[in-house]
Amino acid sequence: SDPLRIALAGLGTVGTGVIELLETNRSTIERRAGRALQIVAVNARDRTRDRGVDLSPFAWVDDMQAMAARADVDVVLELVGGSDGPALTLARAALDEGKAFVTANKAMIAHHGLSLAEQAALRGVPLKFEAAVAGGIPVVKGLREGAAANRIERIYGILNGTCNYILSEMERTGADFDAMLAEAQAKGFAEADPTFDIEGVDAAHKLAILSAIGFGARVDFANVDATGIGEVRAADITQAGTLGYVVRLVGIASIDDSDGTSALLQRVRPCLVARGHPLAAVTGPTNAVVAEGNFSGRLLFQGAGAGAGPTASAVVADLIDIARGDLGAPFSVPVEELETFPPAD
Ligand code: HSE
Repeated sequence: SDPLRIALAGLGTVGTGVIELLETNRSTIERRAGRALQIVAVNARDRTRDRGVDLSPFAWVDDMQAMAARADVDVVLELVGGSDGPALTLARAALDEGKAFVTANKAMIAHHGLSLAEQAALRGVPLKFEAAVAGGIPVVKGLREGAAANRIERIYGILNGTCNYILSEMERTGADFDAMLAEAQAKGFAEADPTFDIEGVDAAHKLAILSAIGFGARVDFANVDATGIGEVRAADITQAGTLGYVVRLVGIASIDDSDGTSALLQRVRPCLVARGHPLAAVTGPTNAVVAEGNFSGRLLFQGAGAGAGPTASAVVADLIDIARGDLGAPFSVPVEELETFPPAD
């Protein structure tokens, strides 16, 4: 059958990871997708940089509208990043053109996921963002499909690899914050602007997406109350240790039914985590998400939350779904059925 033809915008860590993954696992992917996955067009901010991958088979198309409109493109893959700007232009253009759209962009889905899902539903095309939350961990699919029969009561976890790397390395080595941040940047986990990592904004983006999926809620990023790790000192970690705790940046979302209305609580905070708790054992750039379902009980999703290989794995899994003709709704229910919850104080 015909190949699935992909336009890829963004050739950073994840974009080049996708090219390498499609190349290395070509035959496995083709067998599972039932057809070849073929990149036909690419773009990035800098055309000349050597990325260690061969870009010569692909057309270079700078204009986002033109990229989305190409007749030889079936699916548009956005790995540019940023909640608005070129990424959003491309998303709107792709869905307008009736093209399937795949993204790893948590900021854009946290801010515009609802309206993009409405646009996708209107055009009857898939919108997929597995890689937007917790990199290589299939937690979007896990909650949407695996826990579909459950009422999810609480979702919490470690959603930012950079912060978890910094905190667990400070704990392990006694080093200070700045040195560990520099390492996280060098290793490619941190966002281009690491303040989003450090201030808890990146974790808040992911929490807003997870709670939308888990609770069937309209994405409500504005009401995620986030505090980052900028104030955590090596001494705090040592003190916590003497009391039997580690420090982790934890995102927590739950439905509070206590006063008769269902309110949605969404918070990101540096937390004391008891040494015996599964989240305490999560070190390095790893993410872990716990979801508590009323019949499933406690589910733990854990793995690499950032980096080229893991994030590319989630992106390509979405492409394989599309190649097989999976038109599944982006959230757990059709977008018009998502509920509005008031924020819990
Ligand atoms: N900067 C993010 C992190 C990358 O450190 O987790 C993955 O979203």
